Parts: sequence; C-alpha cells; structure tokens
Amino acid sequence: MNGKGGTGKSSIASLLVRHIIRKKLGSVLAIDADPNSCLADNLGVKKPDTIVGTCEEISKNLSKIPAGITKDRFIEMRVQEAINESGDFDLLVMGRPEGPGCYCYVNNLLRGIIGNITKSYDFVIIDNAAGMEHISRRTTGEMNKLLLVSDYSIPGVRSAGRIYELAKGLGVKIGGAYLVVNKVSGPLAPLAGEIAETGLEVAGSVPYDEEMVDWNVSNKPIFEFDDETIENNIAEIFTNLMR
Ligand SMILES: Nc1ncnc2c1ncn2[C@@H]1O[C@H](COP(=O)(O)OP(=O)(O)OP(=O)(O)O)[C@@H](O)[C@H]1O
Ligand SMILES: [Mg+2]
Repeated sequence: MNGKGGTGKSSIASLLVRHIIRKKLGSVLAIDADPNSCLADNLGVKKPDTIVGTCEEISKNLSKIPAGITKDRFIEMRVQEAINESGDFDLLVMGRPEGPGCYCYVNNLLRGIIGNITKSYDFVIIDNAAGMEHISRRTTGEMNKLLLVSDYSIPGVRSAGRIYELAKGLGVKIGGAYLVVNKVSGPLAPLAGEIAETGLEVAGSVPYDEEMVDWNVSNKPIFEFDDETIENNIAEIFTNLMR
C-alpha cells in the first residue's frame, strides 16, 4: 500500500486484512512499515515490539548473542518472536530508529525478513509510509501487487501516478499496479483523464463515509467498523487485485 498522506492507506489495509479473514481466504501477515506506525490501532490489537527496537537492543548487547548463532540469524529469530500472533492475523511493526543514519541497515534487514518470514503466509499486506521513501530505498524489492490509494482529488491521483513511475524507474518488480480512489464524494468522471494518465488499473473506490470519521473520533479500530457498502467495495477491490 502506498499513496499520498492521509488518503486512507492504513484504513484500507485494515479492511483488506479483515476481508481475507472473514472470507477465510488464507493466512495474513500485516506489516506496518510506517515509522509513525498506527496499523495496530487500526487493527485493534496491541502494538508488538518493533523490529527496529529489537535490532537496536541486540546491537547494544552483542555479548548476549548465543555462541554459534550469527547476528542476523539472531535478529531474525527475535523478529519472529516479536510478531503479534494474538488475532486471526499476524502483525509485524517496523518502528523508527532512535538516531539518524540507521535506516539503511534496517531497510536491508526488512528486505531480508520480508523474503524469509513472509514465505509462510498466504497474504502479506505492507502498509507503507506516505510518499516515496520506501520505494526509493527499495525496501520492498519485489511486490506482487502495488496498491496506490488516492483521495478524491487530482493531486491524490497524480501523487499515485508519480509513485508508480518511481517504482518502475527503480526497476522494482511489480506484478500489478492498481489505484483505489478513497473518500469519494462525487462522480469519478472528472478524475478519469488523470487516472488514465497514471497507467494504473482502477481496482475500485470507497465512498467518503461520515460514520467512519465518527468511528475514528471515538477512537475505535477501523477493523471493527461494519458497513455493508464499504465492505462490498473492499470485496470488489480484493477481487480485482487477485485477478
Ligand atoms: N472512506 C473514508 N471516509 C471517511 N473517512 C475516511 C475514509 N477512509 C479513511 N478515512 C479517514 O481518513 C483519515 C486517514 O486515514 P488513514 O490513516 O487510513 O490514512 P493513511 O493514508 O494511512 O494516512 P498516513 O499517510 O498518515 O499513514 C482517518 O481519520 C480515517 O478514518
Ligand atoms: Mg497510514
């Protein structure tokens, strides 16, 4: 998941996780790759220890690594332990490095972890930070599906298009690139030209929903937000993504 800030990436990621679970489509790992993480709140589960926190702790206590185990292997084991397995899905949170300059190591690590840990899940949904940081650092070297979320605006669609261009320019392997227009409060026709320019396939749209806003204001997890229209929209998005 990627797209401009506040377009609804985390909300849609959470609703996609729920859709997969409710329809019993397979096992799910949700990864919060946003340094300012909030996916656990959206999913209504306890935030697990972060990967970055785990790495930093290990780096400060290298003498505690058991003999015969490499640092990277030890980190991978600890990351496995840090996965929140309390719900019907698993959750892994990247977190944020305390000091400057350690992103590279963490991003390399994430790439390795995505490669290894994710193999045991049917679905892996990565909720990225807004913008192009993760793609430009090539955190995710390969994506089956790139899902770009836009709000109901030309800048939102353009931003999605730019992220797609960047990903292609960096040679990231992408199985399919899709657009979801969220918070729709009118006809899509005025955006059609701009959407066509992006070259993205439209996976669907989600209406602007006042109740979702109220839900958020009352601090309830979006994962528990039940609305038939929204659910049908998410189901359609999922179906289009899986085609
Ligand atoms: N369809 C919708 N209707 C109304 N409000 C929505 C809708 N989708 C998301 N929101 C609200 O928009 C806000 C931003 O949503 P969300 O946190 O999912 O966006 P994001 O793209 O993940 O943001 P960030 O860039 O900060 O990670 C939230 O308050 C959420 O409840
Ligand atoms: Mg978010």
